[in-house]
Amino acid sequence: MKHIKLGDLDVARIGLGAMGMSHGLTGAGTDDAESIRTVHRAIDLGVTMIDTAEIYGPYTNEDLLGRALKGRRDQVVLATKFGLVSHAGAGAWTLDSSPANIRTALEGSLKRLGTDHIDLYYQHRVDPNTPIEEVVGTLAELVTEGKIRHIGLSEAGPDTIRRAHAVHPITAVQSEYSLWTRGIEDRILPVLREFGIGLVPFSPLGHGFLTGTVRNENDFEEGDFRRGNPRFTGENFRRNLALADEVQAIAADVGATPAQVAIAWLLAQGDDIAPIPGTKRVTRVEENTAADRLQLPADVLTRLSSLPPAAGDTHTEAGLRMLER
Ligand SMILES: NC(=O)c1ccc[n+]([C@@H]2O[C@H](COP(=O)([O-])OP(=O)(O)OC[C@H]3O[C@@H](n4cnc5c(N)ncnc54)[C@H](OP(=O)(O)O)[C@@H]3O)[C@@H](O)[C@H]2O)c1
Repeated sequence: MKHIKLGDLDVARIGLGAMGMSHGLTGAGTDDAESIRTVHRAIDLGVTMIDTAEIYGPYTNEDLLGRALKGRRDQVVLATKFGLVSHAGAGAWTLDSSPANIRTALEGSLKRLGTDHIDLYYQHRVDPNTPIEEVVGTLAELVTEGKIRHIGLSEAGPDTIRRAHAVHPITAVQSEYSLWTRGIEDRILPVLREFGIGLVPFSPLGHGFLTGTVRNENDFEEGDFRRGNPRFTGENFRRNLALADEVQAIAADVGATPAQVAIAWLLAQGDDIAPIPGTKRVTRVEENTAADRLQLPADVLTRLSSLPPAAGDTHTEAGLRMLER
């Protein structure tokens, strides 16, 4: 697979998102053996960057990866995230990037992942109670201590990115970016390019929607965050089906699958972009990584870039409040 640079970090340009193996999507946690086979198959196919977070479970996704990576740790660029679990008592889904909390979170992640260092350690969401200079200062100390190799931010706004990068080089920003979520193009992407920071688009398949396999809003199990998500419910869901149909039609025209087209479109946006499609199935990791070989013609890229915007926001009100835009 083609490799690119995120900052000065070398990665294969298609990574693997591990979240859905354990958390947040229908079927999570139902077949750990297949999830582990998927991780192994991804590595065999040339994937290097594997993405998880402390909050996924919480903890169970890192536990799973720790098992999957036994004996293969050195073959991957291991990325995880802190800042959505407060170890001071408030627990999960509490923003806490205080220095003490970062250190506690990291020790837990290292233990669960069975490693002595994290290759790319992200702040999962900006914490309004801890200045970003203090956050990155703590992370820079952890780089010096050898416990993390690179620093990332997730869903941070332009001002935060600038301030963070002034303290210590930021290697990558991970934000939602896909055919139906283009919000970062105007204000975030130019800042990343100004500083040579890489972009890791999360949910590149629109949480599965862009693949055309999500057809019924009643199919989401309890615990699947798409239940109640504005894009996946009611009239918005019905309207968005037309968008998925359009991706499907374009994919048929180029002889690829919709998932491959969605990934290839992202790859065509620049050599500083490494999406992390999520799957817990071997067949799908094979399908998704094959997008590396799909070169979309200019007219197809234009058709894809001209798709109508999605109906509905990416998050609920509570989720939106945690994003910097
Ligand atoms: N930084 C953040 O705040 C943040 C937020 C969300 C996600 N993430 C990261 O981004 C990664 C990916 O995001 P995501 O899982 O939300 O969304 P995604 O990658 O856009 O889509 C994943 C969904 O698509 C399905 N899928 C995958 N390949 C497919 C294919 N070829 N055909 C049909 N369906 C397919 C998966 O089902 P199966 O698993 O059953 O194949 C899963 O339900 C996560 O694993 C996580 O690491 C980060």
